[in-house]
Amino acid sequence: MKILVTGGAGFIGSHVVRRMVNTYPDYTIHNLDKLTYAGNLENLVDVESKMNYTFIKGDIVDQGFITNLFEKEKYDAVIHLAAESHVDRSITNPLEFVRTNVIGTLNLLEGYRHHGNKDRGHFYHISTDEVYGELGETGKFLETTSYDPNSPYSASKASSDHFVRAYGATYKMPYKISNCSNNYGSHQFPEKLIPLFINNIKNNLPLPVYGKGENVRDWLWVNDHASAIDTIFHNGAIGETYNIGGNNEWKNIDLIKHLCKLMDVKLGREKGDSAKLITYVTDRAGHDFRYAIDSSKLMNELGWEPSVNFEQGLEKTVTWYLQNEKWLNNVTSGAYKEYYTKQYAER
Ligand code: NAD
Ligand code: TYD
Repeated sequence: MKILVTGGAGFIGSHVVRRMVNTYPDYTIHNLDKLTYAGNLENLVDVESKMNYTFIKGDIVDQGFITNLFEKEKYDAVIHLAAESHVDRSITNPLEFVRTNVIGTLNLLEGYRHHGNKDRGHFYHISTDEVYGELGETGKFLETTSYDPNSPYSASKASSDHFVRAYGATYKMPYKISNCSNNYGSHQFPEKLIPLFINNIKNNLPLPVYGKGENVRDWLWVNDHASAIDTIFHNGAIGETYNIGGNNEWKNIDLIKHLCKLMDVKLGREKGDSAKLITYVTDRAGHDFRYAIDSSKLMNELGWEPSVNFEQGLEKTVTWYLQNEKWLNNVTSGAYKEYYTKQYAER
């Protein structure tokens, strides 16, 4: 089977590529990535010499390039992860999110519609639970929950989900969609909460907590997201949507205090030292209060379950960042500093 993975140099994509290349040596895996600030070939050093793996640098927004690629390669399946993925960036630059997440997805859908081996595979679209909007204190997102996105990021992902379903209905294109909760783990760019705070604690920098820190997220270890994607890709039903979550809700401030305690231990600091860095800052505009996923469809129908609990996953994650100082230093040099100053200076 010949599979195009998009966004495979990013956080989740690199875990998916690694899993597919190593678990299925008979598959041919092409990884298409533009290598934006979030894409990094250092995430894939352990697979780059594998016989069944090829990296292709390219932009999914470039229609001519995508058409030529699909014409030439005649893919059996697509696992589409390439996206602009950070809510805060979508607030400052929404158009970039429409270009990549909506137009980029359409270019891939067109490529697969015209040139894909649709009787051998399908178009698997990786999406987020943020398309469902926000929850109050109770309840969980189901696959049947109506879409109600609030940020430019989630609106762009909702739009791309709709287009994938529209191609299924209109052109009978075989597809699957999964909507996952917040991921954490190794190789995540330090702009999202957990790696940003690990990096700041390490460097004794303030920990910018948005609002009162009372927003709730449902956290899943990235390797467990990759295993869910593998399960859905192989065993999920065509035309179905699966929610993926960790059944692991944390109020931001509780998670941050927990992380601070762990970092004190890992860095050999006095108990309470890291928590002194907590700084409450202006809230994010349109900040969704709570996300929580009901993944019982995936668990009951396909037998998937997470392999680690949050304590284990967070421990592995912190250890990885502390052992991979060079990776962290490389990605936080240059343009990162500019982003960080702009994002947090006026909060
Ligand atoms: P990421 O930002 O770490 O990586 C995105 C990757 O896409 C990067 O390698 C980047 O270079 C590539 N990319 C961006 N624009 C491109 C373009 N125009 N052409 C080709 N490649 C391009 O994102 P992530 O956190 O790994 O998320 C991957 C996917 O999973 C996204 O679709 C995201 O919406 C979804 N998702 C993420 C989370 C999460 O918690 N991070 C949760 C649920 C779903
Ligand atoms: P983030 O990792 O950006 O993921 P998302 O917005 O997609 O859920 O943020 C997770 C939560 O942490 C969210 O409620 C916003 C909050 N947050 C902060 O309080 N401070 C920060 O510096 C960041 C990046 C996020």
